Amino acid sequence: MQRVFSGIQPSGIPTLGNYLGAIRNWVPLQDTHDAIYCVVDLHAITVWQDPKELQAQTREMAAALIACGLDPARCILFVQSHVHAHARLAWIFNCVARLGWLNRMTQFKDKAGKDREAASAGLYVYPNLMAADILAYRATLVPVGDDQKQHLELANDIAEKFNHDYGVPGFFPRIEPLIQGVAARVMSLRDGTKKMSKSDPSDQSRINLTDDRDTIALKIRRAKTDPEPLPEQVGGLESRPEARNLVGILAAVTGTTPDAVLREHGGKGFGSFKEVLVEALVGHLSPIQAEMTRLLGDPGALDAALRQGAARAAAIADPIVTEAERVVGFLPR
Ligand code: TYM
Repeated sequence: MQRVFSGIQPSGIPTLGNYLGAIRNWVPLQDTHDAIYCVVDLHAITVWQDPKELQAQTREMAAALIACGLDPARCILFVQSHVHAHARLAWIFNCVARLGWLNRMTQFKDKAGKDREAASAGLYVYPNLMAADILAYRATLVPVGDDQKQHLELANDIAEKFNHDYGVPGFFPRIEPLIQGVAARVMSLRDGTKKMSKSDPSDQSRINLTDDRDTIALKIRRAKTDPEPLPEQVGGLESRPEARNLVGILAAVTGTTPDAVLREHGGKGFGSFKEVLVEALVGHLSPIQAEMTRLLGDPGALDAALRQGAARAAAIADPIVTEAERVVGFLPR
């Protein structure tokens, strides 16, 4: 069975973008693939995280993933720092990846902002750790949103260079991104050219999976739009990024296509369209929220599930990374 790996940072509450672009697509893969999912706390600390909040957010993220449909009995779900193989392999990859490759990463440029000198070294080598996450399991399929594509190309470059330099063809496999659906890139509610992000300073820019009805209604009503009514066809969404985003979100949440949404709502103004969108979002998210609250009511059970997940993950990754260390020439422990 093909092995799938994906991860999500516990750097805030998961957003509708995380859900529609990634998490939701992880659920069916549990039944068709050998699926491994990880809350990546090592990645989260590449930018400052308050320690108490990081702990709470790591649990919340795990609860959100289970509430969205990940089942620790049907997939491996764990926290990255609990499996040391990730950091061990990441170090080796820090020595395989070239500075020139990392310099091309657009996410580093975005996240580091203007004051690049003040960014952490961890943020710079972030993609090497991501490659280690996947290749420590020899996973070959990685379901992600569109923004992760460049990192996955780099992971393939790292695998290829490792295999070549150490003369071990095929030691690490090629990985393939799985970027699915109309919502592979959900945009900010305040600016249709920026992606929706859990770390955006404006809470108004995103829908959090935990937002209640009133908050969702307020954010959608205030979402930026243009003065024109909705077009009758998707072609009419060109150069209207905010309209395209809201249509895409409704299509994704109701399981249809932008075409079908416009057949129903084309010609309407945004006022009535937004009310439909609010109802769809509330209907979709409230069962997830109820389940999340239930899971967070028993942190002991949640932690136990994560510990078990980590043990199962380590059983796969440890032998692979130990073999990689032997290939590199480290003396066996
Ligand atoms: P993170 O935590 O930023 O996001 C988790 C997943 O959500 C997707 N995503 C989106 N999809 C659509 N629209 C959006 N606005 C949006 N925002 C986020 C992301 O593409 C991602 O799939 N580097 C990764 C975490 C990671 C990882 C890995 C992923 C670490 N190791 C190994 C895959 C494999 C990240 O920052 O995700």
